[in-house]
Amino acid sequence: VNVLLLFYVLLLVVFQSVVRLWSNAADGAVAPPADCRITAEQAIRLWAQHFTLHGISEPLLSSQYIISHVLGEKTVSFSLIMLRDTLTDRERERVWELGSKRLTRMPVQYVIEEWDFRDLNLKMRPPVFIPRPETEELVNLVLEDLRLIRGESHTTDLRCLEVGCGSGAISLSLLRSIPQLRVFALDQSQTAVCLTMENANRLGLQDRLDVHLLDVIKDADAILSKCNPVDFLISNPPYLLSQDMETLQTEILGFEDHSALDGGLDGLSVIRPILALSSKLLTQRGRVYLEVAPCHPPIIQQLIEEMMPGLLYLETRCDLTNRPRFCILQKKGEDG
Ligand SMILES: C[S@@+](CC[C@H](N)C(=O)[O-])C[C@H]1O[C@@H](n2cnc3c(N)ncnc32)[C@H](O)[C@@H]1O
Repeated sequence: VNVLLLFYVLLLVVFQSVVRLWSNAADGAVAPPADCRITAEQAIRLWAQHFTLHGISEPLLSSQYIISHVLGEKTVSFSLIMLRDTLTDRERERVWELGSKRLTRMPVQYVIEEWDFRDLNLKMRPPVFIPRPETEELVNLVLEDLRLIRGESHTTDLRCLEVGCGSGAISLSLLRSIPQLRVFALDQSQTAVCLTMENANRLGLQDRLDVHLLDVIKDADAILSKCNPVDFLISNPPYLLSQDMETLQTEILGFEDHSALDGGLDGLSVIRPILALSSKLLTQRGRVYLEVAPCHPPIIQQLIEEMMPGLLYLETRCDLTNRPRFCILQKKGEDG
């Protein structure tokens, strides 16, 4: 009788586990294993497997970012000792909570609510655009260009306008690197404006930054009255062609603001007003730095040569993968 009873109990436990696994898989959530001792290393492997099973992109990296974030580590390069430590109950619950969010295809940057951009750690919040690595290249390019123009001069003040600041990645990086810089940043999204302010405050850069809720297409006059003049303008605007939007990953389409990405039929719907504004806003020989799609540089060059006599197309720069992605323009001086 005892053996039979034991057999029934065992059967019940197995049945309950299967039901629990099945219902978790159905709503995409995974419950933390109760009373389970698990090390960080094991949790990384387990979650990488879960992610792979559910078709989540970059399964191992996602798992590593989540676990290092929960353990308060910057990157996955935390020490082996920590990897072998057993997670506390609280840590385990948090890993399972964040892992379940990632299973819904939420980008890992929104799951852990932070992301590094150059030397800055920024708060991330959906649906504000997550800064991409090529934009770090844009910032490097500007810093290098300004150094060439200005030498090592730290005496003169500089003024800059960023159109479409998102989380504040570009403006805050520039402010961190150039102590004499004052930045006017604008975005048509209230969430983006709030996030830029929050990141500026966290980094102690708020005193040299003015953030405005403005739309570069509709609010040209207000922008001119608030920011005029500036020594340079920088933007990573929405530049995707509308027809390419549907080719984006579910992670991007489902969570990031489409107006941060979609540049209209030809990808230039925000770039055109930026160019029109530049010739009015820039000081003589002031520059415009744009991140664009690889198809855009020759089109922008033609647009400027044919329609914008006040601007000069200086050059196109390539990104690390050798695709033409950055345009540098200049306002003409009085002598042309
Ligand atoms: C590609 S995201 C870039 C965000 C940030 N600068 C970065 O590089 O991470 C483009 C940003 O432009 C903003 N934007 C789109 N259309 C705009 C418009 N007409 N006026 C002002 N901002 C706009 C979006 O809200 C979004 O934050």
